[in-house]
Amino acid sequence: MCGIIGISSNKPVSANIINSLKKLEYRGYDSAGIATLSDGTINEVKSKGRVDNLENNFDLKNLRGNIGIGHVRWATHGIPNSLNAHPHSSHNVSVVHNGIIENSTILKKHLINKGHDFKSQTDTEVIVHLITENLKTSELEEAITKTLKQLDGSFALGIVFRDIPDLIVGARRGSPLAVGYGPNENYLGSDSYALKSMTNKITYLDDGEFCVVKKDQVLFFNENGKKINKKILKLSSNESNYDKGDFKHFMAKEIEEQPTTIKTGIKEYVDNVNKDINIFNFPWKNEDIKSITLIGCGTAYHSCLMAKYWFEELTNLDVSIDIASEFRYRKNRFKKDSLYVFVSQSGETADTFAALDLCNKNNMKTCAIVNVIESSIARDSNFVLPIHCGPEIGVASTKAFLGQILVLYILALKLGSLRNEIEIKDYQEKIKDLKDLPGLIEKTLQHDNDIQAISSTFNEAKGSMFLGRGYSYPIALEGALKLKELSYIHAEGYPAGEMKHGPLALIEEGMPVVVLAPRDSYYKKTISNMQEVIARGAKVLLITNKSKDNVVSENIWETIEVENTNDDLLPFLLTIPLQKLAYYSALKKGYDIDKPRNLAKSVTVE
Ligand code: G6P
Repeated sequence: MCGIIGISSNKPVSANIINSLKKLEYRGYDSAGIATLSDGTINEVKSKGRVDNLENNFDLKNLRGNIGIGHVRWATHGIPNSLNAHPHSSHNVSVVHNGIIENSTILKKHLINKGHDFKSQTDTEVIVHLITENLKTSELEEAITKTLKQLDGSFALGIVFRDIPDLIVGARRGSPLAVGYGPNENYLGSDSYALKSMTNKITYLDDGEFCVVKKDQVLFFNENGKKINKKILKLSSNESNYDKGDFKHFMAKEIEEQPTTIKTGIKEYVDNVNKDINIFNFPWKNEDIKSITLIGCGTAYHSCLMAKYWFEELTNLDVSIDIASEFRYRKNRFKKDSLYVFVSQSGETADTFAALDLCNKNNMKTCAIVNVIESSIARDSNFVLPIHCGPEIGVASTKAFLGQILVLYILALKLGSLRNEIEIKDYQEKIKDLKDLPGLIEKTLQHDNDIQAISSTFNEAKGSMFLGRGYSYPIALEGALKLKELSYIHAEGYPAGEMKHGPLALIEEGMPVVVLAPRDSYYKKTISNMQEVIARGAKVLLITNKSKDNVVSENIWETIEVENTNDDLLPFLLTIPLQKLAYYSALKKGYDIDKPRNLAKSVTVE
C-alpha cells in the first residue's frame, strides 16, 4: 500500500503535501516523510508514526521548495522507523515508493559492489541508487526506462532530482498512480482521492508507463521511453463527505450513515413504480452465463460468501467464491460461460486487481462491484456496478459491506428474474420489502446503550466466538473480523453446526459467544447449537429478530432483537449490532478506531 504525493508548483509546496498526506493515511500510517528541492539541495524530513508526528517533529512551515514529494508508509521491507521511512535519497535522487521490489537483494549487492552506500533496510533504496547510477551515463528519460526494466515486482514511484530541479517523475507497474492538473501546478498521487481537494482533472497511468510532471506541463511515456498521449478525465468531487462532523470517529459516522447509503443504493437500482430492478447496459445475454464466480478480500470476501447464499436461492446458476490472493495463483479452469464478479470497496486491492487482470487476460466476462468508480478495478472491468456509499475512511469496512451486499442481492434478484428462475410474484414482493430496509436499519441502530454495556465483557475475555448458520454464517465471520481488527481480541467466526467438530474444545467458563439466530429456517438448529455452548459455560449474546414467540432456551446471557423483515434481508440488520460491538469495545480500550494497528484501508501490495 503506502501513499504517494508529488507537487510541482510556482509556490512553496510543503503545506499542500502535508494536507494530502493526511488524506492518504488510509493507505498506511507506519511513518511519513517529505522531500522538497530548493537552492540545489534535497530537503528531506521523515518520522515514525503519523503525519502529525512529522508536523510536531519538524518546522515544516519553513521547509522551502516549490517542488516536492511525500509519502505515508505501510511497512513491507524493514521495520517501521524513521530510517526506513520514505523518501529515500542519494546526493542527487530522492524516491517515494509504493509496492515491493522482488529482486532488491540481488540489485543491492550489485550496487554495493559499485560503491553505493545503503542506509535503510528497505527494498526502495535500490531504486534510488539504480537511478543515480543510470543517470551517470544516460539522459533522464533513458535512465528511467533503463531503471524500470531492471526492477522486478510492483511499484508506483515519485522521484525528484537535485540536478534537474523543475520536475517530478512518476512511474507505475502494478500499483496505482494518477496525475492531476491545477493552476500553475501539477500533481502526482497514489490515487485521485489524494488529489481531489486540489483538482478534479486527472490522468491515470497504466502499467509500465511513466510521466514527467512540471508545474506547467506533463509528459507521458510508455515502457520503452516513447512519448504517448493520455486522456484527461474529469472527476466528480464532494469534499464535504470526508468530514467527521460531530462524530468522534469516521467509523461511528459510517455506521450511522447506513440508512442513507442503503437508501441511495436502492434508489439507484430499484424502480418502485414498476416493481423492477434497473441494471442498464448489462452486456451479456442470459444464455451466455451459466455460472458465477465472486472474488474479493477481507470484508469484500465476506460479501461474496453472503451473495453465494442469495444467488443459490434466487437463481439456478452455479456459484463459486474465492479469496483473491488464492484465486490468482491457483490453476483455474476458466469457463467461457462464467461471469467473474470482483467485489472491492477501494477498487485498488492488489490481489483482487491481479485476479481481475488474470480473468481479462483469459477473455472472461468481468464485472466490478466497487465504491470508488474511478478505481483500477472499475476501469479494467467489462461492467461496473457501483455501491454508491460515498467515501469510507475508517479502515474497518462498515457501510461499504452493507453497500456491497445490497448490490449483490439486487444482482441476484435481477438475474433470477431475467432467467425466469424466480417467480414474478416473489420478485416483486422482495423488491417491495427492500423499500423498508433503510428504516429498519435506522431502528436497529438504536441499539446502542445495551451494546456499549455488553462490550466490556468482550474486552475482558481471552477470546470470543461468533456463530451462525445459513445467511447468518457470513455475518458471523464479518462480526468476528470487525472485533479482531478493532479491539485486537481473538475472535473466531464459525458455522454453528461445525462447533462439535473441534471448536467446541475452545469453550470455557465465561467465554463470550455471539450467536446469530434470526427466526429463519435455520433457527431451531442454531438454537440447539447455542444450548451446546451454554452447557459448556459460554456467556451467550443471542442476536435474533423480534417475534411474539419467546426464545426457548435458558441461561442466555444477553439478547438483542433486531427488526423484522424477510429472511433475505435479515443479514443487513444482524450486521449492525456486530459493528457497534467492535466499535464500543475498541473505544473502551482507547484504541485508534479509524486506524487499527498494522492495517491499512487500501491494500495495494500482495
Ligand atoms: C483491507 C481493509 C478491509 C477490506 C480489505 C479489502 O484489508 O482493511 O476493510 O475489506 O482491505 O479491501 P477492498 O477495498 O478491496 O474492499
